[in-house]
Amino acid sequence: MARRKKLYEGKAKILYEGPEPGTLVQYFKDDATAFNAEKRATIEGKGVLNNRLSEFFMTGLANIGVPTHFIKRLNMREQLIRQVEIIPLEVIVRNFAAGSMAKRLGLEEGMALPRPIIEFSYKDDALGDPLVPEEYVIAFGWATQQDLDDIVALALRVNDFLSGVMYGVGIKLVDFKIEIGRVWDNDFMRLIVADEISPDSCRLWDIETGAHLDKDVFRRDLGSLTDAYTEVARRLGVLPTNVTHATKPTLIN
Ligand code: TMP
Ligand code: ASP
Repeated sequence: MARRKKLYEGKAKILYEGPEPGTLVQYFKDDATAFNAEKRATIEGKGVLNNRLSEFFMTGLANIGVPTHFIKRLNMREQLIRQVEIIPLEVIVRNFAAGSMAKRLGLEEGMALPRPIIEFSYKDDALGDPLVPEEYVIAFGWATQQDLDDIVALALRVNDFLSGVMYGVGIKLVDFKIEIGRVWDNDFMRLIVADEISPDSCRLWDIETGAHLDKDVFRRDLGSLTDAYTEVARRLGVLPTNVTHATKPTLIN
């Protein structure tokens, strides 16, 4: 088969032209970056794990009626997705203080927040994805007030779903980031969950031990990232065996 046309390459994924109009193929790389790509590494197996985990979360969301871009997984590193127009915002939901919020406000990491807090960063690597108030989002036309209301509703549903699923396997969902895309069904515009949901874009702490099972393992040099992601996948029943450490080829269905 002729190689598909590459449309976009980001830090962790590549988008190729899809087989039908309105579809794309999303390829998960093994590359990890942090601090706006100041820190980089290639972590064998990360792309395979994130492809499976994002499939798992997006499929679960679809099953409870939350629309996503996911259509089907194609192979170990690729999935078929709906083409969307990405809203240039990182939508961050926080349940417990951590990361940049803990730093900005001088809070202890792990402090329960009074309620889920949603914040928006403007997606621009050159600027380091700055936090922006809703006022900016609307004034600069990145989204309308109605879009923002819909985005908040979507983000809270994703939060409840992911928190519950993770709680069920002994993991606390501290915070996460999602991206939202616009699609048109005839003249009707809808907002759907796009990009990926994986331990690259969440903070996940073991409820018993507090161990980090997310990209902070890489950001903060806390050990093996593949081991952490494999543990999340194993608990969720996403990977029947530890494929990344297999000593002989393992067939993944
Ligand atoms: P932060 O505390 O560093 O602002 O991160 C909040 C959440 O967003 C955390 O779950 C990690 C995720 N995140 C991304 O997915 N991409 C990013 O570029 C950053 C900075 C954070
Ligand atoms: N994804 C961002 C980067 O590469 C930051 C992060 O996740 O920490 O640079």
